[in-house]
Amino acid sequence: MAIAIFAMEASTAETVTLKSAAGQTQRDFGVAFEPTFLANPLYRELATSQFSSITPENAMKWDQIEPTQGSFDWKAADEVAAFAKSNDQKLRGHALVWEDHFPDWFAGKRFAAATLKNLIEQHVGAVVSRYKGVVYAWDVVNEPFDDAGRWRAGLLHNTLGDGYVAIALRAARAADPDAKLYINEYGIEKSGPKFDALYRLVAALKASGVPIDGVGLQSHFIVGRVPPDLPAILAKFAALDIDVALTELDFRLSLPATPESLAQQATDYHFVVASCLAVARCVGVTTWGISDDHSWIPTYFPGYGDALLFDQRGDPKPAYAAVIGALQRLGLPAIEKRQ
Ligand code: XIL
Repeated sequence: MAIAIFAMEASTAETVTLKSAAGQTQRDFGVAFEPTFLANPLYRELATSQFSSITPENAMKWDQIEPTQGSFDWKAADEVAAFAKSNDQKLRGHALVWEDHFPDWFAGKRFAAATLKNLIEQHVGAVVSRYKGVVYAWDVVNEPFDDAGRWRAGLLHNTLGDGYVAIALRAARAADPDAKLYINEYGIEKSGPKFDALYRLVAALKASGVPIDGVGLQSHFIVGRVPPDLPAILAKFAALDIDVALTELDFRLSLPATPESLAQQATDYHFVVASCLAVARCVGVTTWGISDDHSWIPTYFPGYGDALLFDQRGDPKPAYAAVIGALQRLGLPAIEKRQ
């Protein structure tokens, strides 16, 4: 099939995949995963063969997993966990506490600080306990800062102040002492106030003994606009004695794609993956979807799309070969036009 043939062309090895090439560097190559897409055989085949780690795209978010207070719907999350287990893939949990994706029963509510603290502890405790020993790393807190590096305004910070982060991290550690606990954020892949804010937060958490094991850099990028100081940013976080991971990588481009924009996308993906390999504490890269027909980008960024490594038909794009090359610590492959 197309993937195997392409991989053979791209490398002298037998069958190189994202997973096998990343494995050679002791890294994971992961993907955001929606169990509803499993009905598509190509989706299943690519999810199985190409990735060593799975992140539920939506199935473990608070609104999905606790639609009624105290009453959990584990169905989709369990499906994701079962899929990962049957394919011997790691599972990253995503995302426990976040100003977005609150369940409907939060709507319009104001909570006393003690009540919200209790809700967070109950929720985090229940979810992390259920997947104890199954989820190896959790995005415990998602997107705590706004683009100016201020605390994101909203229920969490308005009610509990900065302390909500420590509340969530401690509850996660108590429920599974072995899981790696992350803060996951976007817009921190370059120098600036948002990076500074997260860096200071992690340093403060470490200094006060709050459990924190990693920072996830979401990495939702635009073709032609790589953050040039990404390797330095990763190294700065790693110097706090934590892991880093690129957790939601995609490179959106202005539609329609052209041979030039696809070639630039390949160059950009190569740079980002090579940046991870340059830092020992960078444990892996996850793309936010498999193929361009299943991606959040067209909905959330109208006019943009084609952000992933496989095209609308599930065929590998120039960026696929570029990522394999980066994982093999090679330069950019010659980009040929494939249509
Ligand atoms: C997105 C999903 O991809 C969409 O399907 C959903 O409608 C909204 O959320 N940052 C995150 C992810 O941490 O959870 C988001 O995922 C994308 C931005």
